[in-house]
Amino acid sequence: MFENDLHRPRYHFLPPANWMNDPNGLIQFNGEYHLFYQHFPGGAYWSDMHWGHARSRDLVHWEHLPIALKPDMPYDNFGVFSGCAVVNDGVPTVVYTAVQKDPGETIGVQLPAVATSQDLITWTKYPDNPVIRHAPTGVRADEFRDHVIWREGDEWMMLIGSAFRDAAVSGQVGGTVLLYASPDLVHWQYLGPLCVGNPAETGDMWECPDFFALSNGYETKHVLIVSPIPYGKAMHMIGTYRDRKFVPETLATHAYGGSFYAPQSVDDEQGRRVQFGWLMEKRSREAQIAAGWSGVMSLPRTFALAEDGALLAAPVDEVKLLRRQQHQQQPMPLNDSEFVPLNVRGRQLELDAVFQFDPDDVSEFGLVVARSANGEEQTRIVCDVTHQQIYIDRSRSQADQPSENAAPCPVVFSGAPVRLHVFVDGSVIEVYVDDGRHYFADRIYPTRADSMHVGAFAIGRVQVSQIDIWELNEQG
Ligand code: FRU
Repeated sequence: MFENDLHRPRYHFLPPANWMNDPNGLIQFNGEYHLFYQHFPGGAYWSDMHWGHARSRDLVHWEHLPIALKPDMPYDNFGVFSGCAVVNDGVPTVVYTAVQKDPGETIGVQLPAVATSQDLITWTKYPDNPVIRHAPTGVRADEFRDHVIWREGDEWMMLIGSAFRDAAVSGQVGGTVLLYASPDLVHWQYLGPLCVGNPAETGDMWECPDFFALSNGYETKHVLIVSPIPYGKAMHMIGTYRDRKFVPETLATHAYGGSFYAPQSVDDEQGRRVQFGWLMEKRSREAQIAAGWSGVMSLPRTFALAEDGALLAAPVDEVKLLRRQQHQQQPMPLNDSEFVPLNVRGRQLELDAVFQFDPDDVSEFGLVVARSANGEEQTRIVCDVTHQQIYIDRSRSQADQPSENAAPCPVVFSGAPVRLHVFVDGSVIEVYVDDGRHYFADRIYPTRADSMHVGAFAIGRVQVSQIDIWELNEQG
């Protein structure tokens, strides 16, 4: 059905058709990974939220399974919104955001609801849902959603993304995550906000919280990831979790490129924290509907904590299973080169390049992907030495209309080599910079069938000291 669709990703996860947004209920059970996702099965647009479902042994080859949850109860009549999964005494259990909106109501009331399963395929909603009856005083009933749950001693702990009622009025109160504790996932005690943001930095509502510990050998920190409204991008804070409060020490953009949102992660059996994020489309609603699909997951990623306390991200090793053919490419000097083609063409590619340079000798360099033979269409991953930033230049990505660039990532080009590790898949571009300190996810929609060329460029002088190229397989 989508054979000729050059924009549709081939090795990233997405549903067989129609709409997808957030990853939900990510869990490994009996060795298999289960990925649920916000899904509307009736078209490529956001409407009545269901949970779609797929499973995998290796995080890159997925089997589609029947829809897991539908909005079929009075308390979730407006949608089964985002949530998470845990195994409770051997029983796979999800906690999702039930949204109720009755005729005549202007807002949808959001509350946590529970469902359990034996096999993760068929789910039974808990008879006494929702398991929390109302948002705490001062918290907006329609901004009380998305859950992360972890075990602490003999209790379950849960965070719910929220906004305070005054936030919209005063602009003085930031987004928050509210902390709850439970012995059994159905009786919850409210413990107060885990952390409240500064509205100037992180908006007034935090969607899709994720929270986990990460060590680098000599210290353990906690990472809180949120998707703040109205920023439209995921951000992370690294800090200290103590006495049921989280004190952030740093705040950073979790993903540049303007497409990655609402990520969720889980501890797997190998002890990794494995994350997926929703890669939002960047084309019109009409174009998404016409395509018949919308939304794709990032490649699975995992984290490490750098010695200086920064969060490092990397694709999981299993992504290498997608490699089909490797293409040899010798190191090459670039000297005011507008475009030096690489030895491969395509839109399902992995490129891993290291650039060596003296910052005094070059103002811009980088890689070019999805370039048409005549150069009319091209997307550039630009290391802008002059302005000390990296960005994805979409200005010529699509011949039929100009595309805006997302905010650049500020960097310091000290003269140390720069590594760009790039994944191209139809309309998806993911880029890991250096040791994974910076990550980009962006979308492009070239119109020309020959926008398949890749290469490198420089204004000034750089040396591509190493470059590895692979064509990647379709998953399935
Ligand atoms: C984030 C989000 C969540 C919500 C879900 C609804 O993209 O808005 O906050 O649970 O999507 O589909």
